[in-house]
Amino acid sequence: MDSKTVRALFINGGPRKRNNTVQMLQSAMRGAAEGGADTELIHLYDIPFTGCKSCFACQLKNAKADGVCALRDDLRPVLEKAKEADVIVIGSPVYFSYPTGATRSFLERLLFPNFTYDYDAQGNRRRPIREKQTAMIFTMNIAEKDMPEWNYPVLLGSCANQLRENFGHSETLYACDTYQFPDYSRYAVSVFREEDKRRHHDEHFPIDLQNAFQLGLRLVASAR
Ligand SMILES: Cc1cc2nc3c(=O)[nH]c(=O)nc-3n(C[C@H](O)[C@H](O)[C@H](O)COP(=O)(O)O)c2cc1C
Repeated sequence: MDSKTVRALFINGGPRKRNNTVQMLQSAMRGAAEGGADTELIHLYDIPFTGCKSCFACQLKNAKADGVCALRDDLRPVLEKAKEADVIVIGSPVYFSYPTGATRSFLERLLFPNFTYDYDAQGNRRRPIREKQTAMIFTMNIAEKDMPEWNYPVLLGSCANQLRENFGHSETLYACDTYQFPDYSRYAVSVFREEDKRRHHDEHFPIDLQNAFQLGLRLVASAR
């Protein structure tokens, strides 16, 4: 096996640290570790930061173009790690049909310094794509069969499209019909039946976790 050390960064864009999204990320991390990568998990909700502030420092003609957002805040060390990473996996619960706000803000800060409006006469980007293996993991309440009706493949798939544009490769993994509440009996929920949620969780979530494991393994193999 190639001896290159693969660095794999995992970003939790959800507020909960033990639930569906983190479990999917941790499974992907185990896959990445199995593939020999150095892994790290970062919880965005631990970090005070905002999205892009449109300072355009990264788009100046003489910009350093080092791929790291110029804003000096608590996210900067994470973005520096992202720059050095060969693999980046970002997990988010779906909130009102989109990634969480923190996930969106992180993506803005990650993507814009690697993005360019500057193309040569042949239509090639003047700024090189920084090759990385990237992926989004989304967890959500709705069932997989209902995703098209809610336009989720387009709305959520746009993140991977942007990551692919900047880093060359991206894919998306979905975990649907998740078990949301710690104790359904305490909450006003009549749209979902706890038994259905539990059955799906018991029967299907292990498959989702296995898919996440394979994702981690696959991305690391591709990064070598
Ligand atoms: C504020 C909020 C909004 C949500 N909106 C959606 C939604 O639009 N579609 C959906 O399928 N699930 C939605 N959910 C459910 C979560 O996406 C789902 O339970 C997810 O798996 C939670 O991830 P976690 O267990 O890692 O916190 C929402 C949950 C919250 C708290």
